[in-house]
Amino acid sequence: LEIHLDGLTGVVPSRPFTFAELERRAAETLPPWVWSYVAGGAGDEHTQEANTAAFRRWGLYPRMFVGARERDTAVDLCGLRLPSPLMMAPVGVVGLCSQDGHGDLATAEAAARTGVPMIASTLSQDPMEEVAARFGDTPGFFQLYTPTDRELAESLVRRAETAGFAGIVVTLDTWVTGWRPRDLATANMPMLRGHCLANYTSDPVFQARVGADAPRDTVVAHWAGVFGNPLTWDDLPWLRSLTDLPLIVKGVCHPDDARRAADGGVDAIYVSNHGGRQANGGIPALECLPDVAAATDLPVVFDSGVRSGTDAVKALALGATAVAVGRPYVYGLALGGADGVVHVLRSLLAEADLLMAVDGYPSLGDLGPDALRDLRA
Ligand code: FNR
Repeated sequence: LEIHLDGLTGVVPSRPFTFAELERRAAETLPPWVWSYVAGGAGDEHTQEANTAAFRRWGLYPRMFVGARERDTAVDLCGLRLPSPLMMAPVGVVGLCSQDGHGDLATAEAAARTGVPMIASTLSQDPMEEVAARFGDTPGFFQLYTPTDRELAESLVRRAETAGFAGIVVTLDTWVTGWRPRDLATANMPMLRGHCLANYTSDPVFQARVGADAPRDTVVAHWAGVFGNPLTWDDLPWLRSLTDLPLIVKGVCHPDDARRAADGGVDAIYVSNHGGRQANGGIPALECLPDVAAATDLPVVFDSGVRSGTDAVKALALGATAVAVGRPYVYGLALGGADGVVHVLRSLLAEADLLMAVDGYPSLGDLGPDALRDLRA
């Protein structure tokens, strides 16, 4: 309502209200090499496109005589009560999309202002302690790219616990970077590497390995040597033993993997294909969601391709407990810092809420597969 009322002031709003407009303006704003990093995906980006197109398969039935005057969008995730099911997916090197280089802090501030949790990437430009200090009352999650150096991994998780993060998200699909033509064409990887090390350079174990005053090249080389860990199921008991915080595994798209992760004691499954950035020729993440959701009793976080409040509602109806966005909030950050992120998040929430009102779904519990019609069937 506030967003609608803003328009009554007579001022034509200059803010974008569609993803297409948001994307267009972000593309104009960001330097080309940053834009190719954020907007690009794997191969010819077929999977990335399929992620967004997959939502058109589903249509939401409008239900009448429901009187959905109040909507209840609160959700329980791993013992946390969240005001809405929306989350911000972890995005590495996000500071490049902000004017002052502190995009991680700006994103954390937006989390505090909206109640939408941030999942803070390992690859940040601000140390996790400073990020967590900006969360206010909103819980935050720490995303772990598991280093091959186990002591370093343990140190990162220990620091996340001490800093007050409410859960650990272990990303499984990116121990090596996928084939990304846009990144290759702009040769941006060396530049990106120089910007994503704050969590490492502030880590006592990392410092002990490279020496406190090591030259930048030595730091980057050591980081590159320990970054990518092709984990196997044999590593899951160790990962589980790292923390008593909720443990969420990100990148799970097969129901068998979900079941095995559940048997290994994880607390939630995160269905994602990394926004189509890692593997091309895949299955749209949304298509994987129902089977994974049905495979276990665990809560399911979903991302990859969510571009609107309507998309979020469809993902919830297909079994997601919570829905995360990546690129949309990053574009908001590029255009308006923390205010821009807040605007994108509020717009997504408002659209989802209005859809639930108009279509007669007063609570998230009313949104199940029966609410959807398969338009391809
Ligand atoms: C990502 N993603 C990601 N995931 C992760 O676990 N750790 C990370 O550091 C990053 N870094 C990252 C950078 C950029 C620029 C993007 C766009 C994405 C993946 C992210 O968490 C999420 O899975 C996707 O962004 C979701 O897809 P959409 O919403 O961008 O389509």
